[in-house]
Amino acid sequence: MKLFIDSGNLKDIQALADTGIIDGVTTNPSLLAKEPGDHRDILKKICEMVKGPVSGEVTATDLAGMLQQGRDLAAIDAHMVVKVPLTRDGIRACKALSSEGIRVNVTLCFSAAQALLAAKAGAAFVSPFVGRLDDIGSTGMDLIREVVEIYRNYPFKTEVLVASCRNPIHVVEAARLGAGVATCPPSVIDQLFNHPLTSIGLEKFLKDWEKAQNVKA
Ligand code: E4P
Repeated sequence: MKLFIDSGNLKDIQALADTGIIDGVTTNPSLLAKEPGDHRDILKKICEMVKGPVSGEVTATDLAGMLQQGRDLAAIDAHMVVKVPLTRDGIRACKALSSEGIRVNVTLCFSAAQALLAAKAGAAFVSPFVGRLDDIGSTGMDLIREVVEIYRNYPFKTEVLVASCRNPIHVVEAARLGAGVATCPPSVIDQLFNHPLTSIGLEKFLKDWEKAQNVKA
């Protein structure tokens, strides 16, 4: 499973890209609004850092606006993926941009029916938001199970990109279900590294080693 960073923060992205385990980045208007500077410059720098798919989202809600912004975002760098919302015009924009060879990530997906439409429109990625479903008392991972099952029945090229991941359990479940990608905020990726027994075990190994060196000296 690919692991993407869900952030627009260059420092956080660079720190995680340096670990060598990052395959791409997703951003959204809320994330980029928090960062100083022009969004196109930020996206270009992210593309140079990760050299993998980087999603930048359109803010237009009509077809013509989405197409214009989508083409503009795609022109930033060859790694750019254009994010469009799962609306009627978003699906039309997905179809048009995909047929021009632009990779599209259809975002704000909350049902299997919506995910089916994204695949039919030629999306490179569909982003079901698991955390936001959990927030309203649904089980986000049930949606991932359904979408993965549906996509396996057909030769769709669309990858299931598990979005709105809030904890390591979301990531592990996404991998168990065979999703193509999980995108996580830096804090969640940091948590993936940690286990208390690793820290305790390492401390003990090093203490024993040091003790033995003192005895041998
Ligand atoms: C994905 O592309 C979205 O940017 C993101 O995962 C949304 O996460 P949130 O629900 O935690 O804001």
